Formats: sequence, C-alpha cells, structure tokens
Amino acid sequence: MMTKVLFVCLGNICRSPMAECVFNTILERNNAETLCKVDSAGILAYHQGEQPDRRMREMAKSRGYTLIHESRPVKTQDFFDFDIIIGMDESNIEDLKDRAPSVEAMDKIHRISEFFSPGTPYDHIPDPYYGGTEGFNTTVNLLEDACENLYEWIAKGNK
Ligand code: 4NP
Repeated sequence: MMTKVLFVCLGNICRSPMAECVFNTILERNNAETLCKVDSAGILAYHQGEQPDRRMREMAKSRGYTLIHESRPVKTQDFFDFDIIIGMDESNIEDLKDRAPSVEAMDKIHRISEFFSPGTPYDHIPDPYYGGTEGFNTTVNLLEDACENLYEWIAKGNK
C-alpha cells in the first residue's frame, strides 16, 4: 500500500510545495515512486490556483529542482485521503488540529521538525514569505534534511 503524504504550510506557495518537490526527488532517486503519493496544501485559500512564489521557484532552480504546483487549501477530505499530514510550523499544526474531523485524523498530524536531524538549530521551518533570499535557502536546506529522514522512516514501514 502506498503511503500518502500531505505537506502543509500557510499559503501553499513556498514551503509546502518545495517540500513536495524535494520529497518526490528523493523518491525518484531511490526508484521508490510507488512507495508514496505526495501532495501539498495551504491553511489559507488566498493563493488558490497560483503557482509557487517566484522567489521559491528561483531558489529551487538554483538548487537543481523544478518547482511546479498549483496552490490549493487544505480540505476535510484530506484527513481521510492522506496517512501523514506534515505542518511546517506550530501555527500550521494548531490550524490543522482545529480542522481535523476526528481523533484518528488528529493522529495523522506531524511537525516537520520531528524529521530534522539531531543538532538542527531550528524547531520549525520559518516562513520565508516576508523575508529575503536567505529564508528561501534555509527552507531548502531544512527540507532536504527532513525529507531524507522522512523517506527513511517511511521506507522502514512507519506511517
Ligand atoms: P508559505 O508562505 O506558507 O510557505 O507558502 C506564505 C505564503 C503566503 C503568505 C504567507 C506565507 N501570505 O500571507 O499570503
């Protein structure tokens, strides 16, 4: 059975589409595309239908990724369709908990920081939207580490 992973951030135009892209790249590199189905969504519907933020796309390109996604908000059905729902910061987690339709759904919610390597000097992925280039670089750095650890965790049979 495929494990279905949903990455969630506030706008679904920076961090979570980048997470989806990095994780899909890891699956491809490991010839493990059949292990997981991956998507991303936002707490806000404000950017619905938009492609990722230009600054995130440019950072992705400079790091060797092609970032393609159409922003969409989280919906109740996601809590039934996905096995693992991963928020990028504490506010995403609180908003996801508010929307979870059941206790079982609540159990699917994880913090991205659960997958950071020991010693990582962050406990979330800072929102890069209102900052400069460095925030987008940090986003990719943290996601490359977390997604590798997430991949190994799922490959071992966890969900
Ligand atoms: P993201 O970044 O949550 O990483 O996609 C943001 C994008 C848009 C907004 C905030 C954060 N916004 O307020 O529109």
